[in-house]
Amino acid sequence: MKITLRIVVSLLLVAAVVSFGFSLHQVQSEKKRLVEEYEKRAIVLADSLQSSYEQASKLGSKKGLRRLVARFKKMRAFEGVAFFDINGTILETSQDVNALLDRMHPLVKESIAEDKGVADLVGGKGGNQKYLYAIPLYQDSATTGALVLFYDTPNLTQRLTEILYNNMLRFMVLSFLLIFTTILVVRWSITGPIAQVSDWLKEFRSGKSKDPPSFPRGDILGPLAIEINSLAKSVAMARAVSEEKERLTAGTESLWTSERLKEHVKNELGKKSLFVVSNREPYMHVKKGSRIECVVPAGGLVTALDPVLKACGGVWVAQGMGDGDREAADAKGRLKVPPGEELYSLRRVWLSKEEEEGFYYGLSNEGLWPLCHITHTRPSFRLEDWVHYQKVNEKFAEVLLDEIANEDSPLVLIQDYHFVLLPLLIKRKRPDAHVGIFWHIPWPNPEVFGICPWREEVLLGLLGADLIGFHTQFHCNNFLEGVDRFLESKVDWEQFSVERNGHVSFVKPFPISVAPSVYKAPENPGALKESILKELGVKAEFLGLGVDRIDYTKGIKERFSAVERFLEKDPSYIGRFTFIELGAPSRTLIKPYRELISDIEETAEKINWRFQGKDWKPIIFLKDHHSHEKIHSYYRVADLCMVTSLHDGMNLVAKEYVASREDETGVLILSQFTGASRELGDALLVNPYSIEEMAGAILMGLQMDGKEKSLRMKRMRKVVSEKNVYYWAANLITTLARLRIQ
Ligand code: G6P
Repeated sequence: MKITLRIVVSLLLVAAVVSFGFSLHQVQSEKKRLVEEYEKRAIVLADSLQSSYEQASKLGSKKGLRRLVARFKKMRAFEGVAFFDINGTILETSQDVNALLDRMHPLVKESIAEDKGVADLVGGKGGNQKYLYAIPLYQDSATTGALVLFYDTPNLTQRLTEILYNNMLRFMVLSFLLIFTTILVVRWSITGPIAQVSDWLKEFRSGKSKDPPSFPRGDILGPLAIEINSLAKSVAMARAVSEEKERLTAGTESLWTSERLKEHVKNELGKKSLFVVSNREPYMHVKKGSRIECVVPAGGLVTALDPVLKACGGVWVAQGMGDGDREAADAKGRLKVPPGEELYSLRRVWLSKEEEEGFYYGLSNEGLWPLCHITHTRPSFRLEDWVHYQKVNEKFAEVLLDEIANEDSPLVLIQDYHFVLLPLLIKRKRPDAHVGIFWHIPWPNPEVFGICPWREEVLLGLLGADLIGFHTQFHCNNFLEGVDRFLESKVDWEQFSVERNGHVSFVKPFPISVAPSVYKAPENPGALKESILKELGVKAEFLGLGVDRIDYTKGIKERFSAVERFLEKDPSYIGRFTFIELGAPSRTLIKPYRELISDIEETAEKINWRFQGKDWKPIIFLKDHHSHEKIHSYYRVADLCMVTSLHDGMNLVAKEYVASREDETGVLILSQFTGASRELGDALLVNPYSIEEMAGAILMGLQMDGKEKSLRMKRMRKVVSEKNVYYWAANLITTLARLRIQ
């Protein structure tokens, strides 16, 4: 009400000042106009009285003057007239003018002196004013006196009163309308909507309401509504994230193991099997001379999913990439894995060279991979790659449909950016299937994603899934924002879901992890370190370690530069600190990957040349596919492990290093641009683009006191052991299995 009162009072004040000003102006002009009218009449009459006076005065008697006055009085052209001689003495009047003499005398004097007509308005009885007009009189061209005409001016007073009265009336009507309109407008468009917003905020705070009220376009609260909308979105997000966190932490009181997962999945799925699809197979057969060897390919995906399938059984559909793969499988491409244990089935899909080139090297790794990783490597989108990509997705769909043919409501878990079209292809044929896709790499923001020429197709394909999983909530949000931007669909920011053509896809974070280490802790770590160093042919007091698929996203070159800078800054470590990089060559048919290997090699050589001594060098780059066992023994002796990805969905090396340190020591230097950094806050978090910062972190890691190291490592180990890969799988599979499929 206060605001209404304030507006009304201010408007009334302004209106009053304006009305008063206008009335004053109107009164002045009207007065001027009426006076001018009297003046005109007076001049005409005075003229004829003047000439009549000349004739009458020629008669030389007062009688002539009296007759003249009487004649003009009869005409009622004025109220009265008075004749004065040159001294101002009255000669003749039409009536008693005593009351006016005070004003007449000065007028007479003035008109004689100035020899012209002069006028004045004087107050009269009852507020009426009188108009006086004096003009000189002549006899034979000599001034002999003056005459004064006077008029009553009832119309002048009346007119001015009328004006004032009308204006007052107008002001009152205006005031009433102003008050009425102000109350209406303020209620309608200010206090009403504010009350609506505050009611909504109250409900929102108590968690009852979802959508903020909508305001008509261009409304005064329009900009506020936009802010409220995004605020509501953020709060809903935060609320959902914390619920999600609760969901993720629920049931972690006892650790997840493969046994527990097996039991859990059995209870959850009953007799149902799990169907996993990925491009990379978990076991690859390669020819070594006349022998065929089975190897486990490097990379996070296999590390994460093999334990899951081992625990709960099922079928893994993947591309057969090894040159011994066909020999090791049956005619359909099926075999039991792992060799010797045979815990689940692997179904291999065969691709032609052209298909592999377009699908795997082309669109997947030269298009989608750089698109999703912000490392300033330009993605290439070629139509022929897209055509192959589509064909290969269809091929996998055929194989998968064959595998799930006899299963009711099968549970299908698709992996990664190689299969964006697969969820929709499966769902179209098997609407009863529970289809989930897990995206192992980052998802970019809509601006970055928008450059993909097939962005709509990519999104539509993915939205065929009932569940879309990312590592972090941040990537979920990016995905939903992309859908919001590029597709017509209903994005629910509270549920984190997308509804399109009656189908709902849930989008949730499932931070992937590793299995608890299966390798035994070395009995004598010192001896292990010695033997490793001996094998490498160097002597060093401290060891740093990097383990990667050689990829431009991993920041390997930056890491080497940091080692160089560290030695520059702290030369006391020259001869004492060696950094070992275990790098597995990857995607070497792609030019940037080939170039990267030689670039890294050159960098390492240059640094070594600069610093190395007789039996020491700063960097040892071991370019090979290293076994898990070997990697584990390196983890165990490394004083620090460096994970310096420029951008990474999660990064499991960070978690593997932590999982392998039962001795609760060792330091993890971790890029802040990895998904893992969200969980491993006790690592030394670095910006891999800052060589100085990384060099500083190496020194800090080496000089960190034992207590602090162990405190940090303990806390990280708690996270990694509680949220291990079985926990991840249990969450993902349970969420997918429990989704109600419309
Ligand atoms: C990394 C990514 C995985 C991806 C894998 C593919 O490990 O984190 O999401 O599936 O690379 O590697 P590949 O060698 O099969 O191209």
